[in-house]
Amino acid sequence: MIRRAAGEFVELAQSAVHRYGRFTVALSGGSTPKGLYEILSDPTQTFREQIPWEKAHFFWGDERHVPPEHKDSNYRMAAEAMLFQAPVPEENIHRVRGEETEAWTAASDYEADLKSFFQVKGRGLPRFDLVLLGMGADGHTASLFPGTDVVFEARRMVVPVWLETSEAYRITMTPPVLNNAARIIFLLAGEEKAATLQSVCHGEFHPEIYPAQIISPPNGRLLWLVDKGAAACLPEFKRPSPPGPVPSP
Ligand code: 6PG
Repeated sequence: MIRRAAGEFVELAQSAVHRYGRFTVALSGGSTPKGLYEILSDPTQTFREQIPWEKAHFFWGDERHVPPEHKDSNYRMAAEAMLFQAPVPEENIHRVRGEETEAWTAASDYEADLKSFFQVKGRGLPRFDLVLLGMGADGHTASLFPGTDVVFEARRMVVPVWLETSEAYRITMTPPVLNNAARIIFLLAGEEKAATLQSVCHGEFHPEIYPAQIISPPNGRLLWLVDKGAAACLPEFKRPSPPGPVPSP
């Protein structure tokens, strides 16, 4: 799964730089993508030398409301696993300033960064070449959590989200920005996500319960890369039950 994702990343980076002279990617947090980030920057693997690092621009689909050095920072995870290991110019790293005292300030500053970088005018939207997403066992993606208004946010690009469970804010890109991407890749591992993935892909449309369902790029392609554990409940991958005992003649 990770190697397939790395191959997709390289292909998208090369085609974007060939077409536009740059590659823009919104990284995901969580634990699953860490293996991808590591393999991309690993000098013993074939991916690193194929990536035009100096023309790649790194953003985050969401961030925790913590300073960059904090153990929970999505920026820190990606920087240690990839960005500090590869020849990425500092100006190409566009992190959310989670150290801001107010989460709203961090969100509005990041939205201003996006508008400036993508030269967005009026009601335009940034268009990422690639958005990487994960999904929690509860069906959340980025920081679009079940029962939160941000799942249906239609106007703002970046908003803070209060999480009661962790009693902390997160800052997240909203569905309009995420869905405007040319390519979205979900990366999922673990059988604890299998039942939710089945509901997300084959259940009724209830993004207030399964926010990952809101991800549907009208002018882009969506790719799910999932491991066997996460795919266990998908009908497409249900292993045929072993043949029963051969009836005696
Ligand atoms: C985050 C991510 C979040 C993550 C899921 C899955 O900030 O944690 O944006 O949406 O992708 O929680 O996380 P795992 O990959 O660790 O299962």
